[in-house]
Amino acid sequence: MSARRMIIVSNRLPFTVTQENGEVRFTPSVGGVATGLRAFLESLPNINLPVQEYLWVGWPGATIADDAKELITARAANEFHSYPVFFSEKEVEQFYQGFCNSTIWPLFHYFPMNARFDGTFWQQYVKVNQEFCNTLAQIVQPDDVLWIHDYHLMLLPQMLRQHAPNVLMGFFLHIPFPSYEIFSLLPPQCRRQIVEGLLGANLIGFHTYDYMQDFLRCVLRILGYENNMGQILLSDHVVKADCFPMGIDFDTFQRAVSTPAVITEKEELLKTLGNTKIILSVDRLDYSKGIINRLEGFETLLEAYPEWRANVALIMIVVPSRIGVLDYDQMKKQIEECVGKINGKFGTISWTPIIYQFKALHFHQLVALYTISHVALVTPLRDGMNLIAKEYIASKPDKTGVLILSEMAGAAKELGEALIINPTTKEEIANAIVEALQMPLEEQSRRNAIMQHRLRRYNVVRWAADFINDLATAGEHQRSYFAKVLTSTDRRHIIEQYSNSIHRLVMLDYDGTLMPFVNRPALAKPTENILNILSELSSQHQNELVLISGRDKQTLQEWFGALPMGLVAEHGAWIKNSTGEWKTLKPLANDWKPKLLPILESYADRLPGAFVEEKEYSLVWHYRAADIEQGRHTAHELMDEMLRFTANIDVQVVQGKKIIEVRNAGINKGAAASLWLSQQSYDFILSIGDDSTDEDLFAILPETAFSIRVGVEHTQARFHVQSPTEVLRLLGELPRAVTDRH
Ligand code: UDP
Ligand code: G6P
Repeated sequence: MSARRMIIVSNRLPFTVTQENGEVRFTPSVGGVATGLRAFLESLPNINLPVQEYLWVGWPGATIADDAKELITARAANEFHSYPVFFSEKEVEQFYQGFCNSTIWPLFHYFPMNARFDGTFWQQYVKVNQEFCNTLAQIVQPDDVLWIHDYHLMLLPQMLRQHAPNVLMGFFLHIPFPSYEIFSLLPPQCRRQIVEGLLGANLIGFHTYDYMQDFLRCVLRILGYENNMGQILLSDHVVKADCFPMGIDFDTFQRAVSTPAVITEKEELLKTLGNTKIILSVDRLDYSKGIINRLEGFETLLEAYPEWRANVALIMIVVPSRIGVLDYDQMKKQIEECVGKINGKFGTISWTPIIYQFKALHFHQLVALYTISHVALVTPLRDGMNLIAKEYIASKPDKTGVLILSEMAGAAKELGEALIINPTTKEEIANAIVEALQMPLEEQSRRNAIMQHRLRRYNVVRWAADFINDLATAGEHQRSYFAKVLTSTDRRHIIEQYSNSIHRLVMLDYDGTLMPFVNRPALAKPTENILNILSELSSQHQNELVLISGRDKQTLQEWFGALPMGLVAEHGAWIKNSTGEWKTLKPLANDWKPKLLPILESYADRLPGAFVEEKEYSLVWHYRAADIEQGRHTAHELMDEMLRFTANIDVQVVQGKKIIEVRNAGINKGAAASLWLSQQSYDFILSIGDDSTDEDLFAILPETAFSIRVGVEHTQARFHVQSPTEVLRLLGELPRAVTDRH
């Protein structure tokens, strides 16, 4: 991939605009997305990546008066490579505070009781995603690489793909993706649109393997799409889900420790704190961060271990966040009451147990605090990643300090040498603090060395580079999968060849090729349109038309017997040419059926929705209507049992689309088609199918034949089409092309 422009899209821009007394101020945004990406983008010129320049599209964090918009847009472009998307007050209220932070945020962090469901929130979420899409549609060039971030913009990938079908697009979710059970608390229409929205991307990144698995399970259960190692084949593109744990700018933190600004700040702090052991807590104000539980843990420490009183202090920094969202406003009050209570209960004239600040810090202040703290207490109840934990470890060049980390933070998957605790139990927090305070320096150093090694290697640049390189690879896969898509030029070529030929053979599969799948095979009766098309094709005297199906011969006879066409039933067990009678291709046995039928039936009994279809020379176990996950599981078991059971019988067990079929060995669609191919020579051959059983047929066709597979899969066919509708369109055009010529 040659150097391209990258467009970063996130709700929050790297700066937040405030307007006071007519003065416009730009301050750095807090939160993992803004800080992490900012650090990566600053390094962009020095790293070898297929993207070099960038533009960051997002919201400047406040409602801006109309007369200030032009100025802000200009400054955003000149100073921050940014393009602001402005929200109205209603959008802030119903989109940002509403659907994003009162519905999705609590739900995805496993706080269903805090989640509010309101139709107007959802409508606004759709609208704002659409506005982002409209803005991007004017900006995006075909060669740009798009990287969309976080839960505010989950519908955007699909919306944008409709505008720019070939654009390379990645999405990263910075918060947990919840389990299917929690995700299903969203109304059906929202959950479906969100999953479909995300699948518009080519690559979807998560911090951990668990989040990725939860997402893939939702995709399977809600949309029915299976994945192969995280890769999902959709009708118009390929999408891959993978995990990329976000890192930090490790070297910047290590270097910052010895800068004059940090040293001065540190000295100031130590003047007042003296020899007190310092426990540090830094978070945005958020119920997901477990701040109250942490305070209770600290209180338990002071109660249960009085010897530590006056010897420790908890520095608690709470950064203002999402002001105006009810739960956040209430929580601030709760935290302050709790701090007041503990300080009142244990504090003395000369010692304040908790030093509390409600404000954002400058970078050098934050690093100074990391440096002087003996313990970092990072105990979120649920956190997508948590960068504070990583920054603390990185700010300790002398490798002292102990990180206490909640098992509910994504970061715990990487920082196993921290003291990993359950954040809900106050005794566990208190005991962990004591363990941390007493940990020998060598042990601190041993643990921190391992964590630092990892954080230095897998830093934020590596995280972003891995993502972008995988996105580029996803683009290549995409091209290889879709190289065979039947273009309008290919279609014209087929039609032209058809009209120029005089001996034609057209072989068609039925289910999934001419007719979409339905839950019960008997319901897939041919429509009038299908019958008309087949009738037209078979009535042209230069044509030999054959329907090659896995269905039983009675059904084929009933549905197509009146047409002058060849029929193949049970994948080639039964054959009938356009004028003749049904006959078997070779002597076949079915004495194995009574032995296998009860096994298949017992598996159908266990799985609601499954049933057995009995044909003369084959048995089929269907599970399309069953629960999708249970169906897949039971099908594996059945397949295993069938393979063992049939080892000494002359049958084959084949797995098709939501079926397992047992049939005589040596029977397949290729063998059946050979019969027609050997009868005479054709100057036009067309074969269309959708399943692995059709591959046997594609494999024996001469090179000049046109073979088409319905659906995107690895195939021996020359072309792909997306759906039966496209097949019928092509087949309908063929006879007409000849009529038009004459
Ligand atoms: N941060 C900041 N100013 C502060 C406190 C924190 O810029 O006063 C930064 C901090 O350095 C970190 C980010 O905010 O990079 C917080 O990220 P984290 O993943 O821990 O939590 P989030 O806020 O994204 O939920
Ligand atoms: C989390 C989210 C980010 C968000 C940040 C700060 O890290 O994943 O998308 O930017 O919190 O929240 P805010 O609402 O202020 O943007």
